[in-house]
Amino acid sequence: MSNVPPDRTLLEVLREDLACTGTKEGCGEGDCGACTVVLGEAHEGGLQYRAINSCIRLAHSIDGMALWTVEDLAGADGSLHPAQEAMVQCHGSQCGFCTPGFVMSLFGMYQNHVARGEPVTRELAQEELSGNLCRCTGYRPILDAAQQMEQLPRSSVDEAAIVQQLGALAREGAATAAGPYLAPRSLPDLLALRAAHPEAQVVAGCTDVGLWVTKMHKQFGRVLDVTRVAELRRVERHEDHVAIGAAVTLTEAFEALVQDRPQLKTFANRFAGLPVRNSGTLGGNVANGSPIGDSMPLLIALGAQLVLASARGERELPLEQFYTGYRKNVLAPDEVVAWIRVPRPVPGEFLRAYKISKRFDDDISAVCLAVNLRLEDGVVAHVAIGAGGVAATPVRALQAEAALRGRPWTQDAARAAAAALRSEFQPISDMRASAAYRSEVLGNLMQRFWLESQGQQHINLESFRIEEALAP
Ligand SMILES: Cc1cc2nc3c(=O)[nH]c(=O)nc-3n(C[C@H](O)[C@H](O)[C@H](O)COP(=O)(O)OP(=O)(O)OC[C@H]3O[C@@H](n4cnc5c(N)ncnc54)[C@H](O)[C@@H]3O)c2cc1C
Ligand code: FES
Ligand code: FES
Repeated sequence: MSNVPPDRTLLEVLREDLACTGTKEGCGEGDCGACTVVLGEAHEGGLQYRAINSCIRLAHSIDGMALWTVEDLAGADGSLHPAQEAMVQCHGSQCGFCTPGFVMSLFGMYQNHVARGEPVTRELAQEELSGNLCRCTGYRPILDAAQQMEQLPRSSVDEAAIVQQLGALAREGAATAAGPYLAPRSLPDLLALRAAHPEAQVVAGCTDVGLWVTKMHKQFGRVLDVTRVAELRRVERHEDHVAIGAAVTLTEAFEALVQDRPQLKTFANRFAGLPVRNSGTLGGNVANGSPIGDSMPLLIALGAQLVLASARGERELPLEQFYTGYRKNVLAPDEVVAWIRVPRPVPGEFLRAYKISKRFDDDISAVCLAVNLRLEDGVVAHVAIGAGGVAATPVRALQAEAALRGRPWTQDAARAAAAALRSEFQPISDMRASAAYRSEVLGNLMQRFWLESQGQQHINLESFRIEEALAP
């Protein structure tokens, strides 16, 4: 690996350097899943498997992990792996371009579920294949294949042997504090390297930065990877908050959030597709600061605090105070985002997070709204509202909050908050939505929140608008 440039992608190494051309390149930006491969990382004596997009992952980032590509699945005698055999039996492939990517997602699902004796439901299959696009076969036969895998003779991975090999490799090559790709293992090492190399490109899961390489052709002389830092990969549960390390993957970070607040599961599953969530980190989403990023409106509504760290020490601030402008933040050149502290739920909390996008799976928000309300004797005692897609940064909706705080929680109060939300921001028009649509939808989401707070889960927004129009 020492001769591989720090910004070379895993897909480039596979296809161009190693001639493993079974892994395909479609979009080159994490959207289609043609390049899906599976990583195995030593974890609690076994292996943790993650399907990821190799097109936007930097090659060096997988140092010390096991890697499976589509070339690795069939037996030496040519016998197919259940992931492949099921695709054949269910007619899951036509032109075949997407097939290696699907098969690798199926392999990841096989190891994480079938091999552990867990049933593959239709819902699980849809979630696990959310990052793979097929343009000709259609998804029904592929979903059938996902469920067919468990009917086939079992295939197993010799995890103990791989864990042993990974351990030996780790002992041989602990050279992480030098060279153009820096991947420190501890927080003090990371902070020292951050201070020593302020010009280095900080990367985490590379699901944003990877596109700067593949689409904008940016080159990085030196890369500082935060994802090996043990302290930043932990989720710690405290009595009053959960501390999520900045390098915890989105998959694991959302698992931690959903554990406390199960109503967030759908919202979590709609963040990108599984391979992006398996690489991308919560800290990367926050630090990237996209105005249409999904975790920030939620974290604002939850009252999350950010801990920023440098060799000089740590400081903590509310998430909404992190941003100073479009993709600008208060990070000093020697600082990193270290933890995101999320308060635990309190009795009486009513929380919802809504994502509005053109497609249900794997799409970017046009508008995102998260509302967190707590009532005392029917009066709004606490409210925090985070919004995305309506300003240059993720924002807190202070005017809408003011319209609610201290008032009885009634339909009139919800209408006042909806009106405040519609006028509080000046969103832009772009390919995802017009400014007028964004403002309108923001208000509608507040109306939906009101109805859901009254126990009406499945509502027709259009009828609400009619009802509202008819209201005196
Ligand atoms: C196909 C696709 C779909 C997507 N869908 C969504 C979506 O639905 N919702 C959404 O919000 N986003 C989405 N994204 C964007 C992206 O996945 C997220 O922003 C992700 O959380 C970025 O995390 P990362 O670890 O990959 O960050 P990286 O790409 O590694 O880094 C992003 C930025 O953060 C900085 N950074 C990372 N970690 C730290 C740290 N600890 N301290 C300081 N700076 C740091 C980097 O320097 C860089 O500037 C999508 C991306 C793709 C490719
Ligand atoms: S090539 Fe499309 S996701 Fe990687
Ligand atoms: S089989 Fe052709 S794109 Fe899926």
